[in-house]
Amino acid sequence: MNGTLFASDAFPIAKIDRRLTSSLVEHLGRGVYGGIFDPGNALADTDGYREDVIQAIKELQVPMIRYPGGNFVSGHNWEDGIGPKSQRPQQIDLAWKSIETNQFGLDEFMAWLQKINAQPMMAVNLGTRGIPEACHLLEYCNMTTDTHWANQRRKNGHPEPYAVKTWCLGNEMDANWQIGHKTAHEYGELVNETAKAMKLMDPTIETIVCGSSNEATPTFGKWELKVLDECYDNVDYISMHQYYDKPDQGTMHHIAKAIRMDQFINSVVALCDAAKAFKKSDKVLNISFDEWNVWYHSNDDTAKVSPWQEAPRLLEDQYDFQDALLVGSSLITLLKHADRVKIACFAQLVNVIAPIMTSSTGMFKQTIFYPIMHVSKYARGTVLRTNLQSDHYDVPEFGHVPYLDAIVVQNTDNDYTVFAINRHQTDAMHLKLNLGQARFNVLNHICYQGPNPHFQNSEESQCTPHQLNSTYNDLTLPAFSWNVIRLR
Ligand code: AHR
Repeated sequence: MNGTLFASDAFPIAKIDRRLTSSLVEHLGRGVYGGIFDPGNALADTDGYREDVIQAIKELQVPMIRYPGGNFVSGHNWEDGIGPKSQRPQQIDLAWKSIETNQFGLDEFMAWLQKINAQPMMAVNLGTRGIPEACHLLEYCNMTTDTHWANQRRKNGHPEPYAVKTWCLGNEMDANWQIGHKTAHEYGELVNETAKAMKLMDPTIETIVCGSSNEATPTFGKWELKVLDECYDNVDYISMHQYYDKPDQGTMHHIAKAIRMDQFINSVVALCDAAKAFKKSDKVLNISFDEWNVWYHSNDDTAKVSPWQEAPRLLEDQYDFQDALLVGSSLITLLKHADRVKIACFAQLVNVIAPIMTSSTGMFKQTIFYPIMHVSKYARGTVLRTNLQSDHYDVPEFGHVPYLDAIVVQNTDNDYTVFAINRHQTDAMHLKLNLGQARFNVLNHICYQGPNPHFQNSEESQCTPHQLNSTYNDLTLPAFSWNVIRLR
């Protein structure tokens, strides 16, 4: 089978925002407790942070972490997670029907970010709370004034402000499962006033308004237009969330589901531009795709978990190889939209629908870890408009699906990286690259190919990427594989 890729630096899409491989860490299940924070565990440092997890996150080179939720944020009082630990209240978390001990809070989060070398992306509670609490949190994080919350931060041992730039104003506020769910009108007004107040306090911040919680919700589109009508001038991004469901129409359909992401982004771009036109605004509103992943493996197990436990096993999906190809294809899709998608967070990071899983004695990297790591490491520079030709197959939802999925990134004047998937389950694909006049050498060809679509990594058994000996004129994508081809 043959595939051809055409790209040229004469046709750039956009410079890639480093925040495209950000992640979400939520107080949910073992995401925080037993995941990143495990005091007393032999694998944790003296502050209680898991060192094996820090090492794996550093390999992922995650630039920014969204925190503390997710649904959790809509019932959370951030003040309960600061100050002396013995005085922090133990509480009910209604979002996940769990017990929150508050032993890990804002200051512990900021200290952990230093260890993994990432920036914060803070979410404020606009479910059960409002403008004053959001401003107090901003004061605690960013202000140098001689005022109550800034002084409280100093008292807690942090004289310097955290300078948080990126702020999510609530989470999935259209969703009926959200604590404090609102109508589009109520939410739009609240966001506008909250963003206005926060920007009065710190004009350097960026704000993100919640778009629809998913593309299938009946209010999708109407929600975006109504909310943006209220708050367009005071927000900088609109959020998108998308989770892929179980492969009940088979593997070939599952690995094509990033086409949904592509269509969803096109729709939200159109909605943002419609709002811009209605407002007669000069401002282009960009996208923060701040939750995305595959999520279905753990549904039955999660349903059986009894409520009101500390750090229960929730959403512990065990990913397989077909999920890795879908995640890779989603990353290619995000790159294709780098002109409008500036932030994206794979959800989540550890234990909860996550690339990294821990036990009390170790950790392992799930299959989805590798495409995320490769894109985070090598998708630096400018995405090029990439046309491709290959044989295709047909699935009812998407029609023709090419076996080849790919994107070309220009890293520097002379360096390029091709991310490419061969979706064919049995046949290798000979790939011809047409990148203009220049001739290239293949610096390396990294290939990730699982033994079968259902293969899952575990602490005992790992499938990891390997190197192929390829040349520019002799490039083969093995059957059912994810590939990173670095050229100079
Ligand atoms: O990531 C898991 C949950 O999915 C988040 O808490 C919520 O925002 C979304 O519905």
